[in-house]
Amino acid sequence: MNAPSQIKDFYGRNFYITKDVLIPRPETEQLIDMVLSFAGKSYLPGVKPSERILPERPVILDVGTGSGCIAITLALELPEATVYASDISKKALKIAQKNAQNLGAPIPFIISHLLEKVKSGTVPTPDLIIANLPYVDETWDWLDKKALSKEPSIALYAKDHGLALIKELLDTATSKFLILEADPCQHQEVINYAKTKRYSLLDTKGYILGFIRTA
Ligand SMILES: C[S@@+](CC[C@H](N)C(=O)[O-])C[C@H]1O[C@@H](n2cnc3c(N)ncnc32)[C@H](O)[C@@H]1O
Repeated sequence: MNAPSQIKDFYGRNFYITKDVLIPRPETEQLIDMVLSFAGKSYLPGVKPSERILPERPVILDVGTGSGCIAITLALELPEATVYASDISKKALKIAQKNAQNLGAPIPFIISHLLEKVKSGTVPTPDLIIANLPYVDETWDWLDKKALSKEPSIALYAKDHGLALIKELLDTATSKFLILEADPCQHQEVINYAKTKRYSLLDTKGYILGFIRTA
């Protein structure tokens, strides 16, 4: 029997969601705003765009794509970009592929643990890596575990106070730009760790941290 599905809005588009993927969250939409601002595009009516810092035709990799909401939105908002998307979950990639087909976004979906397919050369080194990886610490006492049980644990929880995967990604990333999502209570630790890997903070929006790699 197929898993029960639902439709969720993300950045003004409808995404098909099952129990195999994280339900897209409104806080993640600010990640899209940050990429658009790095690309010199306006994301708020009446607000002047920032100066473009990404290349004119950037290569972007969305790590931990889940439903594909980030990668698909970026491919449609930035048609000049080449967007790749990866996940460790085959089931999630199937849903992402279905969403990409429904919404007409041309994206190669790749099964991979973090950046292993970049290391192996299967995916070119991107100009920008985006990662909304699992960052929930199972011991946080404010969690509604019953509500969260409707989503896959692999999409939510990580060891080392929720930061194990984010730190592993930072250990291996070499792209010039990197945008991460984490709980605001984790931000200082992420910023400090990123600094040891030559990534300096460029911008913060809600849950989202944007970094540039220094020489
Ligand atoms: C928090 S969800 C984010 C999903 C989607 N990007 C979004 O923003 O709604 C994290 C995703 O990371 C994937 N993931 C977990 N561990 C991973 C790993 N080691 N390598 C790659 N992806 C991983 C999960 O399968 C899940 O789809």
